[in-house]
Amino acid sequence: MSFNLLKGKKGIIFGALDERSIAWRTALRCHDEGAQLVLSNAPVALRMGEINKLGETVKAPVIGADVVNMEDLKKLFEESMKHFGGGIDFILHSIGMSLNMRKGKHYTEIDYSFNQKTLDISAMSLHRILRTAWDMDALNEWGSVVGLSYIASQRVFPDYNEMADAKALLESVTRSFGYYYGLKKKVRVNTISQSPVRTMAGSGVKGFDAFFSYAEKMSPLGNATADECAAYCASLFSDLTRMVTMQNLFHDGGFSFTGITETIINQMEK
Ligand SMILES: NC(=O)c1ccc[n+]([C@@H]2O[C@H](COP(=O)([O-])OP(=O)(O)OC[C@H]3O[C@@H](n4cnc5c(N)ncnc54)[C@H](O)[C@@H]3O)[C@@H](O)[C@H]2O)c1
Repeated sequence: MSFNLLKGKKGIIFGALDERSIAWRTALRCHDEGAQLVLSNAPVALRMGEINKLGETVKAPVIGADVVNMEDLKKLFEESMKHFGGGIDFILHSIGMSLNMRKGKHYTEIDYSFNQKTLDISAMSLHRILRTAWDMDALNEWGSVVGLSYIASQRVFPDYNEMADAKALLESVTRSFGYYYGLKKKVRVNTISQSPVRTMAGSGVKGFDAFFSYAEKMSPLGNATADECAAYCASLFSDLTRMVTMQNLFHDGGFSFTGITETIINQMEK
């Protein structure tokens, strides 16, 4: 069901890799809600070709940008503003990558040059995107920027490795830049702390299936799906949530505030 929540709004969606991606689902939802879109991903992801299918479906140009390259970002914003014929109303940052995880390095023995890259791609990229928009005055008043986080930023989930630190940094950039952008232009910046979802990035986490089924059993509503996350993103891009900023918003079926559930107790007693 669509509510036309984003009629007339224009947004950039970062991070649609394949149809399971949270960004992919969000692009479809924002399109259904009446938004005009530009899609972006790293040049290497573009070469996989999948994103062009999404571009056709949501009638959006696909513009490559490596989020750690300021020239790429500047070009992306210039081309997007040209395409829209003006400013941008919302941005989805749906980007994450851990080099140490990919190389199978344990948290206690991470490689620090990999770690810098991980923090840059997964967290400081939000700063880079906001900074580019700030310098170019690309975001309209009451614009909305959403990043995706995970509860490992606040509690220990051993196999989440260095991404826990990346998410803590992402949430901090959200608060700090959100403060300045709110003052400057009433732009709001938030993160959504999402349930586990079977995506390329999600499945890269060691023991993901156990993560997923544990969270499902620990959440009174069950795990939130990517489509449900997309709907929540659309609500945050809309004018219905104008006064929400600098927040980390849990979208996890109640997982974050549940101590234990009967399902888990019954399982422990077996
Ligand atoms: N899947 C989960 O369980 C889950 C749960 C909570 C939060 N998240 C977060 O959601 C976001 C999206 O992940 P997803 O699960 O949809 O997986 P995904 O693998 O589909 O998306 C990750 C995206 O990041 C992009 N990316 C990586 N390096 C980049 C770079 N240098 N420049 C530009 N883009 C780059 C990838 O190309 C990919 O499109 C991530 O921040 C992830 O941490 C995921």
